[in-house]
Amino acid sequence: MFTIKIAKHMDDVATLAYEPFREMLLRNPKSVLGLATGSSPLGLYKLMAQDFKDSHLSYRNVTTYNLDEYVGLQPDHPQSYHTFMHENLFQYLDLKPENIHVPNGSASDLEDECERYEAALSMTHLDIQLLGVGSNGHIGFNEPGTDFASLTHIVDLKAQTRLDNARFFETLDEVPTQAITMGIASIMRSAHIVLIATSVKKAQAIHDMVNGPVTTKVPCSVLQNHPDVLLVLDEASASLL
Ligand code: F6R
Repeated sequence: MFTIKIAKHMDDVATLAYEPFREMLLRNPKSVLGLATGSSPLGLYKLMAQDFKDSHLSYRNVTTYNLDEYVGLQPDHPQSYHTFMHENLFQYLDLKPENIHVPNGSASDLEDECERYEAALSMTHLDIQLLGVGSNGHIGFNEPGTDFASLTHIVDLKAQTRLDNARFFETLDEVPTQAITMGIASIMRSAHIVLIATSVKKAQAIHDMVNGPVTTKVPCSVLQNHPDVLLVLDEASASLL
């Protein structure tokens, strides 16, 4: 079930997306949050950091699980998702390091790492999962064709995804070809989902997510089967609804 909020300005996107997180954190100081990287959550993370500073809303007992990480990048690589999360959010909050979980894309045994991550996820209960969406409809790095029953696994990134993410690297060749991602079933277990999308590049995916058939060709369409999804969109990404 979707609740759709369309914001006129980028600042409003962040504000609307932050509301359910703030409510959750106030209600349950031991919240378990699923987090995402990329451009979409940047405004939200700024707000979280600002609100932490202003209101001392504590994350001391909060636990976080990130959706994904590139394969082959050490955690301290400038483009790793570990680095992204530290730079854009974690450094500003009082999370305990042991409560922060990001898959290890440089593990020597990647299959083992997927099992370890999924086991940790299955022992907890995500209160809210934050998502962006790929222009091809991916959620996490679950590319078109991914089984809806998938758990944490290794994916080959599609050419379109590598192109979309090349803006963060010096050259396209440097963009990793694989990632570890929570599976679609792992994501769907979260009690609430908040998905942020901006720009006309996401308009088709948003249209297909809300109005299209539920199909593995468009991974985000699976969200039609989730009981509580908040879509926070700008006018451009909502333009085909
Ligand atoms: C990121 C992730 C991806 C992104 C998606 C949109 O952790 O899992 O699904 O959310 O690729 O990326 P942006 O926000 O950069 O457009």
